[in-house]
Amino acid sequence: MVNIVLIGFMGVGKSTIGKMLGDKLSYRFLDSDDEIEKIAGVSISDIFNSYGEEYFRELEFQVLSNIIDEAKLIISTGGGAVMNRKLFNILLSKGIVIHLDASIETLYDRLKDSNDRPMLYHDDLEKRIEELYKLRRPIYMRAHYTINTDGKTKEDINNEILQIINCDLTGN
Ligand code: S3P
Repeated sequence: MVNIVLIGFMGVGKSTIGKMLGDKLSYRFLDSDDEIEKIAGVSISDIFNSYGEEYFRELEFQVLSNIIDEAKLIISTGGGAVMNRKLFNILLSKGIVIHLDASIETLYDRLKDSNDRPMLYHDDLEKRIEELYKLRRPIYMRAHYTINTDGKTKEDINNEILQIINCDLTGN
């Protein structure tokens, strides 16, 4: 069976939805950030602080390009993972890639109290989110499927994904 890869901006709910899907489908759920933390032995923030973003991106590439070779996985990726074109292409070729989309307003609301995301350590959070969103959203749109999550419950989103997977796998 094929893997399911969730991509999208920070705070969109990739991990929460991924866990729910994993339970529903009896697929193993893996969060790439958790895997990176296990390997590094320190938190994502500490990796950024001590070694910088570039080193984090190398670990992210290694972790994701390795785990995608297992079967029957639901993988939740960090929001910046697919900015690496090579990595995005690997994920597209080895799984069904689903982009969880949300408006900037929704994302700001979900991220305004976040303090464990180094990419958002900036004076003007709203501006920073907008800047990254504009840069990243066109890339996320290369996913096989995009689901708008605005105003939807986790259950709604989960059901939409299940429908997509069903149709994709049966060709309907
Ligand atoms: C990042 C997103 C984070 C994490 C790291 C970098 C990004 O994951 O990988 O802080 O560049 O968008 P989430 O998308 O799960 O917050």
